[in-house]
Amino acid sequence: MTAKGESAPTGLGAGGVGGLLPAGVTGPTQLREQLATLGYLADDGLATAAFLALRLSRPLLLEGEAGTGKTSLAATLAQLLEAPLVRLQCYEGIDATQALYDWDFPRQLLHLRASEAAAAGGQVDGSGLDVARLEGELYSRRFLLARPLLQALETSPCVLLVDEVDRADDEFEAFLLEVLSEYTVSVPELGTLRAEVPPVVVLTSNRTRELHDALKRRCFYHWLDHPSFAREVEIVRTRLPEVSERLARQVTAAVQALRREDLLKPPGVAETLDWAAALTVLGAERLDADIVARTLGSVLKYREDQQRAVSLDLQAVLAGA
Ligand SMILES: Nc1ncnc2c1ncn2[C@@H]1O[C@H](COP(=O)(O)OP(=O)(O)OP(=O)(O)O)[C@@H](O)[C@H]1O
Ligand SMILES: [Mg+2]
Repeated sequence: MTAKGESAPTGLGAGGVGGLLPAGVTGPTQLREQLATLGYLADDGLATAAFLALRLSRPLLLEGEAGTGKTSLAATLAQLLEAPLVRLQCYEGIDATQALYDWDFPRQLLHLRASEAAAAGGQVDGSGLDVARLEGELYSRRFLLARPLLQALETSPCVLLVDEVDRADDEFEAFLLEVLSEYTVSVPELGTLRAEVPPVVVLTSNRTRELHDALKRRCFYHWLDHPSFAREVEIVRTRLPEVSERLARQVTAAVQALRREDLLKPPGVAETLDWAAALTVLGAERLDADIVARTLGSVLKYREDQQRAVSLDLQAVLAGA
C-alpha cells in the first residue's frame, strides 16, 4: 500500500489489461482445469467469466441461486493464486466503519491516559504534555482498525470477496463502487491509501434485490445456474470420494427433481453434498422411501417443502438415475 503522492499501481485498474493470473493460465480452459484440480468444477461460461475478470482486472459479479458455488469460487481462486482471501460479509445496515476502517477508541483512550499519567509524573522531560504530538499519535496508523476493504488494499495481492452484496443497502453499494473504482481509501487524518496491486474482487449476490447499474457496469457479470445432472454428480464424486457412484447419481437425480417443484427453498449443491454425506454416514447404498423420509432434513429446511417432497413420486425419478 502506498500513501498519497507515491506512484500508482502499474497496468491495473478499471479496464486495465494484464491482471493477476495463476501460473500457466492463458485462457478459460486452463483456468477451468486448474480450478478442477482444487475440486471446483466450473462450466465453460463461468471459467470464461472468471478468466476475463482476472485478465482484465475487473471485479467479478456472481449472481445466482443459493448454493451454486459463488462463495466457493472466490475461495478457490484465492487458493489457486496462492493469495489470501479477505472476506467482507454484507448485511443490512453495514456501513463504512464495519467495512473499511474504524479508530480503535479503547486503545486511543488508553494511550491518552498513559501519556497524561506520564506527563503528570514528570516523566516527559518535565515539560508537560505535548498536545500536538499526542494528537498526531492518536490518529496514526497504529490506532486504525483495518476492516476487510482496507485489509484488502493493504494485503496485495489478495482476493477480496464481497459476499452477498444484495443484503447491504443502496448507500453502501454506492460507497463500495467508489472504493472499487479507484482501489484507494481516503482517511482524513492519514491521507489517501492506495493498493499497490489492486485485489482480485469477487462480489456475490442472491438477487434478493437488484443491484445498481453503476456497480454492474464496473463488473464482469455471470449468472450461476444449478449445475447439470452430470456436473452435479461429478461435484459430489469430487467433493465426497467416499460416496458411491450409484448413490451420487440417485441423490443428484432426487435433488434435481425437487428443484423442479415449486419449493420455498430449492436445494443447492450444498444440500446435495450434505444429503449424500448423511446417507453415506448411515451406510445407505441407495435411496428408498424410508431413508428419504428420515434424512430429508439434510436437503429441505421448510416443513412445507418436506411435505411436498413426501408426496412426490421419487421412485419414478430414481428409476432412471
Ligand atoms: N461447481 C462446483 N464445484 C465444486 N463444488 C461446488 C460447486 N458449486 C458448489 N459447490 C459446493 O457447494 C457448496 C455451496 O457452495 P457455495 O457456498 O459456494 O454456494 P453459494 O452460491 O455461495 O451459496 P449461497 O448463496 O447460499 O451463499 C460448497 O460446499 C461448494 O464447495
Ligand atoms: Mg455464498
